[in-house]
Amino acid sequence: MNTLLLFCCCGVALIGNAASDNDFAFASYFQNNMVLQREPHRAVIWGYGTVGAIVNVSIIQDVYSTKVKAGPNGKGVWSVTFRPQPVGGAQQIQGVQDNHGLLNWILLKNVLFGDVWICSGQSNMQFTVSMMFNVSHELEIASNYPNVRVMTPGQNVSDTPLHDLLSIEQGWSVASKESIGGQNDKYFSAVCWLYGRHLNDVLKVPIGLIASDWGGTPVETWSSTEALTRCGLDKKDFNITEHPTWTKVPNKNSVLWNAMIHPFLNMTIKGAIWYQGEANAEYHADKYACTFPAMISDWRWKWYNSHKQTDVLFPFGFVQLATNNVTDDGSFPKIRWHQTADYGFVPNEVMRNTFMAVAMDLRDDASPFGAIHPRYKEDVGIRLALSGLRIAYGQQYNSDGPIVRSAVRTNDGHVVVSYPHDQSLVVTDQKNFEVCCSFSKCNAYDPFGSADWVLAPIASHSTHTITLDAKFCSNKGGKPVYMRYAWALEPCQYKQCSVYNDLGLPAPPFGLLITDF
Ligand SMILES: *[C@@H]1O[C@H](CO)[C@@H](O)[C@H](O)[C@H]1NC(C)=O
Ligand SMILES: *[C@@H]1O[C@H](CO)[C@@H](O)[C@H](O)[C@H]1NC(C)=O
Ligand SMILES: *[C@@H]1O[C@H](CO)[C@@H](O)[C@H](O)[C@H]1NC(C)=O
Ligand SMILES: *[C@@H]1O[C@H](CO)[C@@H](O)[C@H](O)[C@H]1NC(C)=O
Ligand SMILES: *[C@@H]1O[C@H](CO)[C@@H](O)[C@H](O)[C@H]1NC(C)=O
Ligand SMILES: *[C@@H]1O[C@H](CO)[C@@H](O)[C@H](O)[C@H]1NC(C)=O
Repeated sequence: MNTLLLFCCCGVALIGNAASDNDFAFASYFQNNMVLQREPHRAVIWGYGTVGAIVNVSIIQDVYSTKVKAGPNGKGVWSVTFRPQPVGGAQQIQGVQDNHGLLNWILLKNVLFGDVWICSGQSNMQFTVSMMFNVSHELEIASNYPNVRVMTPGQNVSDTPLHDLLSIEQGWSVASKESIGGQNDKYFSAVCWLYGRHLNDVLKVPIGLIASDWGGTPVETWSSTEALTRCGLDKKDFNITEHPTWTKVPNKNSVLWNAMIHPFLNMTIKGAIWYQGEANAEYHADKYACTFPAMISDWRWKWYNSHKQTDVLFPFGFVQLATNNVTDDGSFPKIRWHQTADYGFVPNEVMRNTFMAVAMDLRDDASPFGAIHPRYKEDVGIRLALSGLRIAYGQQYNSDGPIVRSAVRTNDGHVVVSYPHDQSLVVTDQKNFEVCCSFSKCNAYDPFGSADWVLAPIASHSTHTITLDAKFCSNKGGKPVYMRYAWALEPCQYKQCSVYNDLGLPAPPFGLLITDF
């Protein structure tokens, strides 16, 4: 029966330009080889047509019938919501438009049902597979993952929220040497790919990956006006003069949200991952504890609200900032802390259902792409996948590194730092702990900022505690009042920070008030 199908609508050139005598088409990002969201969610498919015409969309034995309505810009739009589809494929999805007896057909081939993840952020998300360490290994195995499918929208801006993409850099493709390693500076995102293929390794379900990212961009470009307003930011343009190269990147609030995220709201997704924050080390750093959680909540609410099919608290994972090698930058530790809404760990009350990969121990000063772009993306991908498997899929891993539970001072000038009992510590003294010896030396409103910090060596450690030697405080006439861990732009060499768990996952940077017994 499918021999009737004469054409497929998936070319970049056709986006938003369906000819008027046959305007029947899927929206731009519904293409051959794609992944649609599996059960228990319901996938939404939408597209264009002639207002008033009947559209039938069929998959396997099901037929969904709907009518084309007047949509944005007077274009006819239609949408159908599938009943929950089990894992699998490959399916064909056929659409037929009946405009008073004039019939047109469209077809999607080789569609899988699995989990769809959006990957977004700035250059470390855009950083491609071909730029990472071990690229040859990655390209060799890519074709072993025929159920991982990838797609990269074009980089576009818009002053208003768009309903469809303006361009597509790489249409939906089956994972292969070519589709993953294709174009050095354009696709495919290393972190997005590695995250997705590790999920596929463990879950054995199809994974659809959409890498919608843009190097150099601050969080404000990816946030809606509503999200920014919650943090007291208005619509003003910005100018980051310290970064002359940024003149090439968007410099207006919301323009990437509008052009590169909003169009996907009508697609049902499983969740999102994010690697961004470097740009905000130099721009509105102090706002990031508000702007980042506000953006996450806003994305979630709007995705949910579009068709009520994407979870209102969909899992959102992110990479905590890695390293850089510049002389002046105290802002990376601050952004790392703000990335957790100042809790030091996720999820927490403000950032529910979120997960994080620590990356501050993946220093790569010799990276040909600049020290700010470490090539250790394999580590980032596996760490993010481990914590995603726990938060988004309920698997039991100690996927976070050890998180400090308490810090207590002893009478003999030590500080006992305790960790939860489900974590076994692996400790080496790499001089990552510091204490502040009196409240007058620490700013109570910003304990991690302008304090008089002193290196506190590790005196001893056990499976769940680390004892710091802070006897120097009494020499200074004080007592240890605050501690912090790994609070530096580059706290250690590659995988050589002080504290890991027995899976080799690093403790995140942390700061805490020290209490009495
Ligand atoms: C569309 O579906 C309806 C309801 O199932 C059916 O009556 C109609 O014949 C279908 N039209 C086409 C063109 O397949
Ligand atoms: C490269 O791959 C090998 C083999 O899988 C692994 O042992 C090594 O750690 C990887 N190196 C990096 C830098 O990821
Ligand atoms: C969208 O971006 C692509 C390149 O990514 C560019 O070729 C195209 O002109 C842009 N479209 C608009 C409308 O700006
Ligand atoms: C979502 O689908 C509706 C049709 O159901 C359409 O009007 C709209 O343009 C689509 N896009 C967004 C982002 O709402
Ligand atoms: C941004 O800076 C450039 C160069 O300094 C200047 O020409 C431009 O007018 C500035 N734009 C805004 C919005 O301030
Ligand atoms: C940059 O790297 C050099 C050489 O490894 C090191 O000595 C220096 O401390 C680093 N700079 C910063 C700001 O971390």
